[in-house]
Amino acid sequence: MIRLSLIIPAAGSGVRLGMKTPKPFIELGGRTILQHTIDKFIDIPELGQLLIVASAQNIDRVKSLVSDHDRSDVDISVVEGGDERQDSISNALKFVDKRCDLVAIHDAVRPFIEKNVVEECISKAMKYGAAIPGIPVKDTVKVLNDEQLVESTPDRSSLWQIQTPQIFKRQILFDAYDHAKNAGFTGTDDSSLVENLGIKVHVVKSSYENFKITYPIDLKLAELKVGGEL
Ligand code: C5P
Repeated sequence: MIRLSLIIPAAGSGVRLGMKTPKPFIELGGRTILQHTIDKFIDIPELGQLLIVASAQNIDRVKSLVSDHDRSDVDISVVEGGDERQDSISNALKFVDKRCDLVAIHDAVRPFIEKNVVEECISKAMKYGAAIPGIPVKDTVKVLNDEQLVESTPDRSSLWQIQTPQIFKRQILFDAYDHAKNAGFTGTDDSSLVENLGIKVHVVKSSYENFKITYPIDLKLAELKVGGEL
């Protein structure tokens, strides 16, 4: 049986949402966004370990939020995050159980991930070493310079928006984080660190449902979805 360690980074400040409460702790239909996200993974048979990353002041809060899950075969821990998302993951990696074949990283603020996407990422990561979900971009994307002038327009047909869970063989992810640390590289996702090792990353087609709650409009959408209105 494949054994999966899942890291959920939840140590962000939520500045872009403009709210006092950090995003993972905002409630939708009586449950926090973080709990909705955990609900999507807790029944996955491969899950052997769950590591939730929280800022120091929220560690106890997260511990009490996860106490309602009763999978006795899953080792659940809450670990402290860092200044940037990459620091948060880097710290969580120190606690990954060496018996796990795969490590998945999933943003706390993507509570609508679909099970079939997770399953496909697990199977592709087992086969190829690295798998991430994504969707083709719907808008045209432009590259701008510092003066807000267009420099170029990349061909849209090859552009994809990448989401989480990003899943990797354990040693590949460890090597990628070591390499990034030595090179002083900071990426906006975990896959970019793995790509820097020269490893091919497989993309699994996901859907728009798996959006990241970032702006107030995303929160509205999430409220409608949890309320069954969408
Ligand atoms: O900021 P961004 O939207 O990329 O955050 C994605 C996820 O990473 C969120 O769930 C957030 O809580 C988490 N994060 C973290 N530690 C940080 C910054 C973000 O765990 N220092």
